[in-house]
Amino acid sequence: MASHAGRAVATEAALAAGAAARRAARAGITSRLTAGWHEAGGPATLREHLQRYGPLPQPGRNRALIDAVTAAGLTGRGGAGFPTGIKMRAVASRRGPAVVVANGMESEPASEKDKALLARAPHLVLDGAVLAASAVGADSVHVCLPRGRRRLAEAVEDAVAERERAGLDPVAIAVRALPHWYVSSEESALVHWLNGGEAKPTAVPPRPYEKGVGQRPTLVDNVETLAHVALIGRYGPAWFRRAGLPDAPGTMLVTVAGAVRAPGVYEIEAGTRVGDILAMSGMAVDAGPVLVGGYFGTWHHAEEVAGVPMAPGPLRAIGASPGTGALFPLPADCCGLAETARVLAWLAGQGAGQCGPCVFGLPAIADDFAQLAAGRPKGPVLDRLDRRLGQVGGRGACRHPDGAVRLARSALSAFAADVRSHLSRRACLAAWRGQPRQGVLPVPRPAGDGEWL
Ligand SMILES: Cc1cc2nc3c(=O)[nH]c(=O)nc-3n(C[C@H](O)[C@H](O)[C@H](O)COP(=O)(O)O)c2cc1C
Ligand code: SF4
Repeated sequence: MASHAGRAVATEAALAAGAAARRAARAGITSRLTAGWHEAGGPATLREHLQRYGPLPQPGRNRALIDAVTAAGLTGRGGAGFPTGIKMRAVASRRGPAVVVANGMESEPASEKDKALLARAPHLVLDGAVLAASAVGADSVHVCLPRGRRRLAEAVEDAVAERERAGLDPVAIAVRALPHWYVSSEESALVHWLNGGEAKPTAVPPRPYEKGVGQRPTLVDNVETLAHVALIGRYGPAWFRRAGLPDAPGTMLVTVAGAVRAPGVYEIEAGTRVGDILAMSGMAVDAGPVLVGGYFGTWHHAEEVAGVPMAPGPLRAIGASPGTGALFPLPADCCGLAETARVLAWLAGQGAGQCGPCVFGLPAIADDFAQLAAGRPKGPVLDRLDRRLGQVGGRGACRHPDGAVRLARSALSAFAADVRSHLSRRACLAAWRGQPRQGVLPVPRPAGDGEWL
């Protein structure tokens, strides 16, 4: 989806037609974070932003915002879904000045939401970071973006400069450009890099909230999470809970791509049924299984996932998770095993090379998958995979190997018929339709110079 940025906010354009708008309303489409995106076509200026949302509430070191975020039931939108209020309280309860890190790295290739949000509404993210900083007692904010997304960094830097000219913020905001690997956006890796080290995950504890940037208590939040904080700070927890489910309140950004007519970033009410989101984005009737949650996510047959609300609890019941909010129905002419093999090979190259599961386990699993996908297995590949997947899960210092294992296991299950065909060297479903198309799941080119500093 690297070339997908132009369509990343296809959202409201896709909704312009009446029929689509009605489908959107049924599908729980809404526009809190995405208000005004399609009219603007670029980053909202500070003036436009304040007209849209009203003035920034007076930041202050008090527990009111933390209480409001807790009452709102906001959970992190960076993948793990941890309650944001609990994290803020943990940072606020530590001694000494704290630091806030806004995680805008979005290293998940199937996701476009954070890029779209920062490119359209940088001030909303900055508002949230500033409010959170004041609430937890932080005097500085670092906005972390990947090196190579230069235009995005410029949009955020321009927004920071505008705020400085307006004398808006009581804290210093710095935009930081990090080396871009899948694991360099993990929170301990961000902290390690901000402290002058390599952008590789470190052993925890201490967690960032205990000892983070400059050894200070550090709040690391995803940029979408911070944008929700900005709205809770303005409109309160009851307003936030007007959307979504009681145990998964609010809205969330999802990225839909693959076998759909209108790929892009959509803002939905949490708990909207996955099938409604896919129907609204025009999923092809002959689409294959759906990848839910990105490359740490899971493959599911459309009928299994269609009626399930896009929210942690209901998805957990089928072994899935919203993750980064990415949904990717596989086009009918693609082989799910070949696509998964490509992603696993990429994930294997993205580890930080510090732990056994990443150094030995993931490359071996990716190699087994490549053999399976090519229909040329050496020896009992399924037994070998089963053993390796069992050995790698839960053994890394961070969750990188676990994510890859989850993806591999779910592919073996969702594409079980194709596995049988490949093992017996018969054509799989995609091959029946002709030469399978390859490379639909976006896999970025390897980070150029291999640098981690
Ligand atoms: C390998 C790996 C990669 C991650 N990449 C991102 C990322 O690109 N963006 C992000 O916000 N969180 C990412 N996370 C999660 C962060 O470590 C952290 O939990 C998150 O930024 C916290 O924000 P939240 O509570 O608002 O979700 C990643 C985690 C892992 C294990
Ligand atoms: S599991 Fe992999 S990515 Fe995570 S810390 Fe170890 S080597 Fe690094």
